[in-house]
Amino acid sequence: MNRKEIIAAAPNAEPERQKYFMELVKELVAERARKKGRPLTCFISTFGCQMNARDSEKLLGILEEIGYVQGTDENSDFVLYNTCTVRENANLKVYGRLGYLSGMKRKNPDMMIALCGCMMQEPQVVEKIKKSYRHVDIIFGTHNIFKLAELIYDRMTDTKMVVDIWEGTDSIVENLPVERKYPFKSGVNIMFGCNNFCSYCIVPYVRGRERSRNPEDIIKEIEGLVADGVVEVMLLGQNVNSYGKTLEHPITFAELLRRVEKIEGLERIRFMTSHPKDLSDELIDVMRDSEKICRHLHLPLQSGSSRILKVMNRKYTKEQYLALVDRLRAAIPDIALTTDIIVGFPGETEEDFEETLDVVRKVRYDSAFTFIYSRRTGTPAAAMENQVPEEVVKARFDRLLKEVQEIASEVILRDAHTVQKVLVEEPDTHEEGFLTGRLSNNTVVHFKGDASLIGKIVDVSLDEAKGFYFMGSLK
Ligand code: SAH
Ligand code: SF4
Ligand code: F3S
Repeated sequence: MNRKEIIAAAPNAEPERQKYFMELVKELVAERARKKGRPLTCFISTFGCQMNARDSEKLLGILEEIGYVQGTDENSDFVLYNTCTVRENANLKVYGRLGYLSGMKRKNPDMMIALCGCMMQEPQVVEKIKKSYRHVDIIFGTHNIFKLAELIYDRMTDTKMVVDIWEGTDSIVENLPVERKYPFKSGVNIMFGCNNFCSYCIVPYVRGRERSRNPEDIIKEIEGLVADGVVEVMLLGQNVNSYGKTLEHPITFAELLRRVEKIEGLERIRFMTSHPKDLSDELIDVMRDSEKICRHLHLPLQSGSSRILKVMNRKYTKEQYLALVDRLRAAIPDIALTTDIIVGFPGETEEDFEETLDVVRKVRYDSAFTFIYSRRTGTPAAAMENQVPEEVVKARFDRLLKEVQEIASEVILRDAHTVQKVLVEEPDTHEEGFLTGRLSNNTVVHFKGDASLIGKIVDVSLDEAKGFYFMGSLK
């Protein structure tokens, strides 16, 4: 069969179609490896959030299935950048790295360079790459990562740059290979996309409309993970609190959690991200009564000013947010709260900023990710005229950071000198013979121990608080 006939013979249904292309590319990769006298290597660099990290595990699963072995850096035969565009600096890094790759490709002309992720869903980005970064081989987006094998087949059997970006999709392709970063914990997508259109945010444009996976598929995936050694899952979605609303048989996020809780062998359940506007009392009850849901909630505030929150299209006020925190703390007194805050949203005044500081002081977060507002093309906020001058934003950002850090270093003392269950995650990168693990409330602890404990839940005494983490000892 010639190339055209081979492509025409591919099944239309997924994942069968991708399995077909995986078999074909496996041959092509093996042939190249034979010529080189060594296996081909691949390297994925992931920018952005947990969704991208999970997507990269799926992409690596496909690459390993077709015969690539994992390399350690960009000096590899297949280099893939899974990009983020939530703030401009994430964007700029990718262009910098692409420049550097062009030199490497000159030395290794067989090298393949692929780009995917959120940045690629922006038409002006793809235009720029097609024009100025001709050494890129494959560009695809956030809706068709499952197609990687087919795209590699196209590139290996043709001479042109392969560009395949979808504007959106209704379908969710299940049952493709995945290669997890950690054997004992895993992210699990429960939904894709976002319908909220916060006025500063580009995610709804690059990730498409909200789609929930069927609860049965989610449970089946987690059962499979647990059978494979996973003890902790992180349920992933841009707004997990609206999970299930658009399913044929709608269920709530709280109900999904009840079902996940019943999975035998699973020890810990986390989830991200909760939008305050959709956080139900049912969810608070389920968290309170759960043995497995971790004592941690990430609850992005964005701003403490009700006026700014309205322009941000967040659909809650300062008072509603604080009342929600009160309800959470009344039900689950030991819950750790973390947040995201944006400084310098268009029109933010000193008074607005003071409101944000006020919420920070009232809630007393365990930690907070603080961001300088970044203007994203195509979002409503980018067109607003009253952008805040850079030096004003910078000064506010520094004040906020100082406040957040001071409070966090006090809040952490709540657990000092107690013994807590810790999931051991990896060898400590700073001290030989030490391990790093996490409490249920997400605080990190370092302690002396043997690497054989990695992936296990052990009792650790929290001896000394060091700002935002503990030094501890095994019990
Ligand atoms: N879905 C999540 C957030 C995903 S983006 C939620 O709604 O909470 C992660 C964080 O990036 C956001 O919470 C916000 O604080 C920040 N962010 C998003 N767009 C931004 C922008 N244009 N400038 C600065 N920070 C931004
Ligand atoms: Fe962005 Fe808002 Fe959606 Fe979060 S909820 S991804 S901040 S639009
Ligand atoms: Fe970035 Fe896309 Fe996540 S823009 S934050 S990688 S959804």
